[in-house]
Amino acid sequence: MNFIPYGRQYIDDTDIEAVVKALRSDYLTQGPAVDEFEKSICEYTGAKYCVAVCNGTAALHLAVKALDVQSGLEGITTTNTFVASSNCLVYNNLRPVFADIDERTYNIDPVEVEKKITSKTKIIIPVHFAGQTANMEKIFKFSKNKDIHIIEDASHAIGSKYKCGTRVGSCKYSDMTVFSFHPVKTITTGEGGAITTNNEKLYKKLRILRTHGITKQNMSKNPGPWYYEMQDLGFNYRLTDLQALLGTSQMRKIDLFIKRRREIIDFYNNIFKGLDWLITPYQEEGVFSALHLYVLKIDFNKIEKTRKQVMEELKEKNIGTQVHYIPVHTQPYYVKTFGYKQGDYPNAEKYYEQALSIPLYPKMTEEEVEWVVDNIKGLKR
Ligand SMILES: Cc1ncc(COP(=O)(O)O)c(C=O)c1O
Repeated sequence: MNFIPYGRQYIDDTDIEAVVKALRSDYLTQGPAVDEFEKSICEYTGAKYCVAVCNGTAALHLAVKALDVQSGLEGITTTNTFVASSNCLVYNNLRPVFADIDERTYNIDPVEVEKKITSKTKIIIPVHFAGQTANMEKIFKFSKNKDIHIIEDASHAIGSKYKCGTRVGSCKYSDMTVFSFHPVKTITTGEGGAITTNNEKLYKKLRILRTHGITKQNMSKNPGPWYYEMQDLGFNYRLTDLQALLGTSQMRKIDLFIKRRREIIDFYNNIFKGLDWLITPYQEEGVFSALHLYVLKIDFNKIEKTRKQVMEELKEKNIGTQVHYIPVHTQPYYVKTFGYKQGDYPNAEKYYEQALSIPLYPKMTEEEVEWVVDNIKGLKR
């Protein structure tokens, strides 16, 4: 059995041909293929505008920056996430405030969010953990009256739908939605990310910020064809045409990827439901998840093994696992800089003690899925 990682990309010949086409074209950096890729994301999600960038972290950085929030104010996000979801607030000189998670969905709990709102709160960044949408209806409702912006971190959730049936990325409940196209995600561009929005002003701002804050439009003067203006402090966060052509090719297969993920998960759920020492992921009624991760909650005491022992035992069987996530507020930087401490967010901390992500990606063969299942079952002797 070859090594089975917890997640990996699905690349076929059409993807390879797409990238080769890019190599034969005039553009290696950002060119017409980026516009095409953005268009495919708009068509799929229903958003009016899309800005593709070099990774999901850059997308989050720009999304927060585009809102022009005064330094020292606050943004709220979940502590059960990758550090990028809160780092984007810090990059913009905002204080990251965390909200605890719902024990069933592992998503940010709207009740906890509401408790953390103060007059300083300007942004909320819900993360659609593992592809299952956070309770956007509730978060949207109480933020609207308080003039708080919402950025959805949908790094796990391209292809997911809210309870109402609308696709994530449509920005039905937010100012902007951010995606990541890292290889373990639903579609990949190698490294890559995107921001969708229905707000033309934000769209124009994001485009300028993606390329140093430079523009050739609406300039204060125009002395000749060489001239451009830097109107804001931006970055080089561009995506290349090589990546964009891969992205467009991947977007054509996104629904197949999700279908295969669903098949694997149905199989996992069916087998694991009989084991009294683990909890399978809770699927909220009516929500359609793109199923980025499959997280088991394992009672390590019951199987008389530590998580480290379990990970090592599985690795010996060529099965990769990972932990999503170490609560961000317990990271040394957040403790040192913002004074957070163990015990601040008990649900996320309790969840973290038991969480283990097992392999889930569309290229998994039947044999590999069965190998994973047999070895998970075999953890308790
Ligand atoms: C929830 C979440 N947000 C943001 C990111 C950052 O995305 P990227 O790796 O593309 O910078 C990730 C990536 O792992 C993520 O899982």
